[in-house]
Amino acid sequence: MAAENGTPGAGRRLAVLGAGVMGSGIAALAVGHGVAVSLIDLDRRRLAEAPTRIGHQLRTARLLGALPDGAVPGALVTGLSLADLVTAAAPPTAVIEAVTEDPDAKAKVLADVCALVAPGTPIISNTSAIPIDELAGAMARPVDLIGTHFMNPPYLIRTVEVIRGTHTGEATLDALRALLAALRRQSIVVDDAPGFVTSRLLHPMINDAVRVVAAGTANAESVDLLMQGCLGHPTGPLRTADLIGLDNLVDSLWVLHSRTGDDGCRPCDLLLEMVRAGHLGRKSGRGFYEYEGEQA
Ligand SMILES: NC(=O)c1ccc[n+]([C@@H]2O[C@H](COP(=O)([O-])OP(=O)(O)OC[C@H]3O[C@@H](n4cnc5c(N)ncnc54)[C@H](O)[C@@H]3O)[C@@H](O)[C@H]2O)c1
Repeated sequence: MAAENGTPGAGRRLAVLGAGVMGSGIAALAVGHGVAVSLIDLDRRRLAEAPTRIGHQLRTARLLGALPDGAVPGALVTGLSLADLVTAAAPPTAVIEAVTEDPDAKAKVLADVCALVAPGTPIISNTSAIPIDELAGAMARPVDLIGTHFMNPPYLIRTVEVIRGTHTGEATLDALRALLAALRRQSIVVDDAPGFVTSRLLHPMINDAVRVVAAGTANAESVDLLMQGCLGHPTGPLRTADLIGLDNLVDSLWVLHSRTGDDGCRPCDLLLEMVRAGHLGRKSGRGFYEYEGEQA
């Protein structure tokens, strides 16, 4: 699995569950580094759109110089069920779960994956806030489970938060570190907790930024310009919210709220209203900003 012909991921096979914002983004990162990817989603429309979205991300990544020179892209296949894609001849070398931030849905997916893949295959949950130990409770082999928190877009953001659960094995951690190195990402390993480090800090801050807009103190653009210009944030909190997806933000805030008791994590009314209205950010074309004709 060493780097070959500028293709650092050659020889690896990744199964990615969930073809939404993050599953597609992680698939684009992996394919762009030469990793073969099987992408699975229950939603036929999402699945049908994914290759176009991934192709768009790969073109953008190349334009920005974010992929290795001369890398031969990995093969991409899509399917509705992991069971149809996991073959004895070419089993995945790792599985990344990036389904909706719903603890029950994730627990079921992870239990199913665990039953399908060989022991020792790293099973990686890309969750924003759900503790890895909680998800491990659903799995026959918690030693194979580990968390990642890729940021969006994965092909551009080079640092990845890695969450080691109480039961995560050393071999699982080493295998994930090696995978991330092949994808030319920097791993920062942290211990388990609701929201880990990044969501524990970022999500309540975004929630507060939305409260400031709801109170009429400033509009979204002014809040973002102040956080960028005065505090050096590369993207303001409300543009970041649109990039994350407001539905995912609300789900993650509820997970944080229920597991920490911190009332600052209760999604504010404006956020809930926007989700009810279908204004989910970039992926729906409208959130705090408009995204006519842009692809998430
Ligand atoms: N959006 C972000 O910026 C971001 C960043 C880091 C982590 N995350 C986390 O990544 C995960 C995915 O988030 P997203 O933003 O891509 O969500 P999303 O809503 O864009 O996509 C989720 C996808 O999962 C699919 N899905 C649901 N149940 C499934 C199942 N049982 N099997 C296969 N597919 C299933 C849905 O059909 C959907 O396409 C969440 O846990 C989220 O918290 C998101």
